[in-house]
Amino acid sequence: MNFMKPDAEDVTNPPAFRPWSKISSPSANLSQTSWDLKQSEQIQALKEKYWLDKGHTPIPRELFKNHPKIWLEIGAGTGGFFLELAKRNPDSHLVAIERCKIRSSRMIQKFVKSQLPNIQGFRGNAIPALITGIPSESIERIYILYPCPWPKNAHRKNRWYLHTVMAHLVRILKPGGLLIWASDQEFYIREATFVSESKYQLKTLLSSTLAPNAFNNLADFIHGRTSFESKFLSMNQPCYELISQKSI
Ligand SMILES: C[S@@+](CC[C@H](N)C(=O)[O-])C[C@H]1O[C@@H](n2cnc3c(N)ncnc32)[C@H](O)[C@@H]1O
Repeated sequence: MNFMKPDAEDVTNPPAFRPWSKISSPSANLSQTSWDLKQSEQIQALKEKYWLDKGHTPIPRELFKNHPKIWLEIGAGTGGFFLELAKRNPDSHLVAIERCKIRSSRMIQKFVKSQLPNIQGFRGNAIPALITGIPSESIERIYILYPCPWPKNAHRKNRWYLHTVMAHLVRILKPGGLLIWASDQEFYIREATFVSESKYQLKTLLSSTLAPNAFNNLADFIHGRTSFESKFLSMNQPCYELISQKSI
């Protein structure tokens, strides 16, 4: 397996699990992120109103009813990871959201063909779905794997953790639920860690370079869990992850 970070410590003694390990990178601009977090509640409310007024296909609320273990993937691509996860976890109910027409139709075809009773795909925009469609404290795990990092400073408001939906990601998690992120961009994981802790009081279980651990299922997917992860791993591109927990 080649789950990277080519520094001496990792190569000689790869850690299976590094709780509370923090990425330190001088490149992340956390003072600017702090400033972003001070935006008024009024601005957040206006942003929500924009999304509510825009019109969208509502996500069926039945997807989130009466199941104790619901796992949600945002931006699931063609759904390969969640399909495999559903096979391995028959007691969990998995819901994948993907906005792109081509990727989501491939995802839904795969799910239907599998005939698995515990997985469902939704083609649509995750933003209004998160704002209006998903009940509070209904989700056990949320996966956001390789989201667009919006690296340009002017576009940073689109990063999921700075977006108005971040409060909803936290709202829909059950107490003790997990928010699981992965990215090839170290700054993204570092900022997401900072925001999750400082604004949303999430507990960081792990914020580190990507390696198999008790939470991320990587051990079962040696070539990568998703298409983007497989691509990055095959190129020896370092990847990073954050696993946050909502307080119980
Ligand atoms: C970089 S791709 C990663 C796909 C997959 N998670 C992977 O790792 O291979 C990001 C995905 O998120 C989807 N996406 C972006 N914004 C979205 C939104 N608002 N709602 C639903 N899907 C979205 C994109 O269409 C794209 O498929």
